[in-house]
Amino acid sequence: MNLPKPKIKGDISLEGAIRSRRTIRSFKEDRLTIEQFSQILWAGQGITEERGYKRSAPSGGALYPMDIYAVIGKNGVAGITPGIYHYEPNQHTVSIITEGDLLHDVARAALSQMWMATASINLVITAEYNRICSKYGERGVRYAVIEAGHISQNIFLQAEAIGLGAGIVGAFYDETIVQVMKIPISHEPLLIMPVGYKG
Ligand SMILES: Cc1cc2nc3c(=O)[nH]c(=O)nc-3n(C[C@H](O)[C@H](O)[C@H](O)COP(=O)(O)O)c2cc1C
Repeated sequence: MNLPKPKIKGDISLEGAIRSRRTIRSFKEDRLTIEQFSQILWAGQGITEERGYKRSAPSGGALYPMDIYAVIGKNGVAGITPGIYHYEPNQHTVSIITEGDLLHDVARAALSQMWMATASINLVITAEYNRICSKYGERGVRYAVIEAGHISQNIFLQAEAIGLGAGIVGAFYDETIVQVMKIPISHEPLLIMPVGYKG
């Protein structure tokens, strides 16, 4: 599914977004628009060169070992069927991996932090270590984890800048998340970010 072109100008300053960012744990039931969804994914991993492949977040050796999966619930994104979607930065598209509203299953796998399921969407940031460890060996794991931090902060600040809020969750059972979402086992979940309207 094609996503709308992201905008590169906003109403809130970078400083304002940094100043107001907090981990949000309570959300309204409202759906996101596809424009908001597109903007958030682009901020996390979108291509930011006119004719290139480099992304919004830095990556050791520009090897890009990270993926973003979106868990979209029934109050998720207007016009998108509930399910698990994979973001493809090069095309700026999402493709469906698994159908159904799995927000509660994901929250249960995150030590039953059920507040996560009140968000419109959860974004799962994964690392495929092979892509970076083939060049850097064990150190590639460190680089990928650092990259997850860059991606998540971009998502946090973009959410603030368009009037949304985000949370961040590191406490979850890795294997259960992979099983529930039916994502490749080589994609290791590092962080989950619930995103929606602040409640
Ligand atoms: C790597 C990482 C993992 C986190 N895991 C959780 C989590 O599982 N559940 C949760 O409610 N908050 C989690 N947090 C959010 C922190 O509790 C929060 O960032 C901290 O209290 C500071 O608050 P702030 O983000 O609003 O500034 C995590 C934060 C980070 C950076």
